[in-house]
Amino acid sequence: MGEKKMPFPYEFKELEPEEKMMLLKAYKASELMPRFDLVSVGPKKFKLLRPFCEEAADIYNMALRSDDIFVVTYPRSGTTWTQELVWLVANDFDYATAKSKVLMQRFPFVEFLKYVGSQWQEELLPNAKDKEMASEFLKNVNKPVKEKLSAIPSPRFLKTHMPLSLLPPKLLDTAKVVYVARDPRDVSVSNFHLNRLINIFDFPGTFKDYWSLFSQHLVKISPHFEHVKEAWNLRHHPNMLFLFYEDSIKDLPSSIRRVADFLGKDITEDQVTSLCDHLNFENFKKNDAVNFEYIKGLGVFTQEEDFIRRGKAGGWREYFDEEMTQQADQWIANNLRDTDLRFPKL
Ligand code: A3P
Repeated sequence: MGEKKMPFPYEFKELEPEEKMMLLKAYKASELMPRFDLVSVGPKKFKLLRPFCEEAADIYNMALRSDDIFVVTYPRSGTTWTQELVWLVANDFDYATAKSKVLMQRFPFVEFLKYVGSQWQEELLPNAKDKEMASEFLKNVNKPVKEKLSAIPSPRFLKTHMPLSLLPPKLLDTAKVVYVARDPRDVSVSNFHLNRLINIFDFPGTFKDYWSLFSQHLVKISPHFEHVKEAWNLRHHPNMLFLFYEDSIKDLPSSIRRVADFLGKDITEDQVTSLCDHLNFENFKKNDAVNFEYIKGLGVFTQEEDFIRRGKAGGWREYFDEEMTQQADQWIANNLRDTDLRFPKL
């Protein structure tokens, strides 16, 4: 008898009662709601929103192509910036297409649908200025992953926030992966703002409340360190390029050259200079093909926050008081104990 094929090798587990209590308190709610109803997956206890679990197996088993290029990150680690960099280098600096076609179309987000599950439709549509465009958007978002991915012509450029262990086991033997890591303190600040930007996430607390959830791995896709370490441990694989957000902030030309080397592209210094200009924070923020401003009209985003927000390394210092700083230092030290991973100091 052959071995039984496992569609998905990990167990989904309910959170512990005290974890649920912490979530209810932070969200000032009396019952778990779709925007923070988390389920724990596998031995590393990655937290996924409950509706996402339905498609986790399809993502784990997705059909790969040898010319696929993935950008994999923990959310708010510089994904969008890196996607644009990777896309332009891979597509021989085709700025005309990069400006006329939004990044989300050129470089789709694999699991996006499950962040905006169909049951939230009622919450989104009433806020939309353009109802027709909004329902078209939701229809796309709610397409099953399998259908969405198989319809994309090659070469595919795919963004995902799934940790490597929840992606196909043959990913690195088949396709190329650019992974971006960022200091978890800046990641948490940026996610706090994202939770205020996206209407349906609607986090009601302070940053301190958010940090408490983040550091206890009670936000989606956490634990952050497990996510980063999985990629760090595979950084020498020839199909993996591991980048730090902080390095790109410090020396963008060098990140561009590393991506070009990784993709086997010869590029000139003039091309590096023009790409730096295109990717420069101020230009990027104004660039409607990457800044997600169009989503505001669909009722998905609030008007008060921006997706391309501040673009700095070390901005967390303005959010952490003395006690939080010390606790974060200890938390980081504990998480770095079993690894040689170190975030670049700026
Ligand atoms: P901040 O919220 O700290 O500003 P992601 O694309 O993974 O969601 O990451 C978003 C973070 O990357 C945000 O961080 C955003 O401002 C920053 N970012 C986006 N474009 C950038 C750019 N061109 N230069 C520097 N940072 C950028």
